[in-house]
Amino acid sequence: MKHITIIAGARPNFMKIAPIINEIKKRQIIGESINYSLVHTGQHYDKKMSLSFFEQLNIPEPDVNLGAGGGTQAEQTAAIMIGFEKYLLQNKTDLVLVVGDVNSTMACAITAKKMKIKVAHVEAGIRSNDYNMPEEINRIVTDSICDYFFTTTKLADKNLLMSGHKKENIFLVGNTMIDTLLNNRDRFIKPYLWKKLCLSEKEFLMMTMHRPNNVDDVEKLKMIIDEIANNSHNMKIIFPVHPRTQKLLSKIILNYENIYMIEPLSYLEFNYLVERSFGVLTDSGGITEETTVMGIPCITLRDNTERPETVIQGTNELIGTDPKNIKPALNKLFKNSWKKGSIPELWDGKTSTRIVDEILNL
Ligand code: UD1
Repeated sequence: MKHITIIAGARPNFMKIAPIINEIKKRQIIGESINYSLVHTGQHYDKKMSLSFFEQLNIPEPDVNLGAGGGTQAEQTAAIMIGFEKYLLQNKTDLVLVVGDVNSTMACAITAKKMKIKVAHVEAGIRSNDYNMPEEINRIVTDSICDYFFTTTKLADKNLLMSGHKKENIFLVGNTMIDTLLNNRDRFIKPYLWKKLCLSEKEFLMMTMHRPNNVDDVEKLKMIIDEIANNSHNMKIIFPVHPRTQKLLSKIILNYENIYMIEPLSYLEFNYLVERSFGVLTDSGGITEETTVMGIPCITLRDNTERPETVIQGTNELIGTDPKNIKPALNKLFKNSWKKGSIPELWDGKTSTRIVDEILNL
């Protein structure tokens, strides 16, 4: 029996592990020799950042929660490593599976590898080459020590090959985040605010903003929100606010008629709105993939992306982090001539099946 320990810690991890766990459960029913445990590091701990995803995506309760949320980058990484080492000492496993690029991904990969346990990385090989972002450091460190790599694109394979990894350990499988999107698209939930704000299809914008580069300087954050509010052609803007951003926003007084700042939304409600929005303004990476698949225009306030296919093939455009770039981008969006885009190869909803096939063959 092959035993896999799956790691999840922060919001974007949950939609990536859900379809893998589902697939393992299906294989167990047909008698395949695979078992798993789920470790939640506790990096994200608010109900709206964690539990609601478990409930909506039917993710089973974790076998353990390491409770390692909050703190500085080093404090958080250290707390996860200490907790996970203790867990591994008491719980044997054949393979640790980490996903994405958050602190939990890197911390658990290092811990397992030092205990001579094989590690596989889902969403391996993507690179922004921007070392100012903690995620890029997490990606590079994780990939430098992993044994097996599950990739979303050919470019990710190329990056891994260029770093000296062997072709036989790299598996181009597609995107598990898109498995979750496609599996749940007909379950999206209309949020209460649809009625309350009298929203109608394609007549509102969605916005998210949580990267340190955009939100940690409160003056800059205010300029970004001002520019968006002033150039949205009177469209309503729905802005579910991440706890990190909320901490900063609570220090200033904001008063906009057309921006609705709300608590983080659940997965099914958030994507209900994205799918029906006129466009999205964000600094997230995952949302650029989801908008690409749903064909929704996406304006990204970042200078670079580790997901270039969302720009080359998809509906995403990078405008940098200078608030001055927001007006021309919105003007372009309102001209109704935003590119249409296409869906990258293998982002077809069957990635988890391919991943579990490969794991069984390892
Ligand atoms: C993390 C990931 C980022 C991902 C984002 C999605 C890293 C380095 N970054 O960033 O890649 O896009 O998650 O949300 O791993 N907080 C709460 N409640 C929570 C979670 C966080 O109050 O449930 C607070 C934390 O205490 C902290 C801040 O928000 O003060 C940031 O949390 P943290 O996990 O450090 O990073 P994120 O900015 O969420």
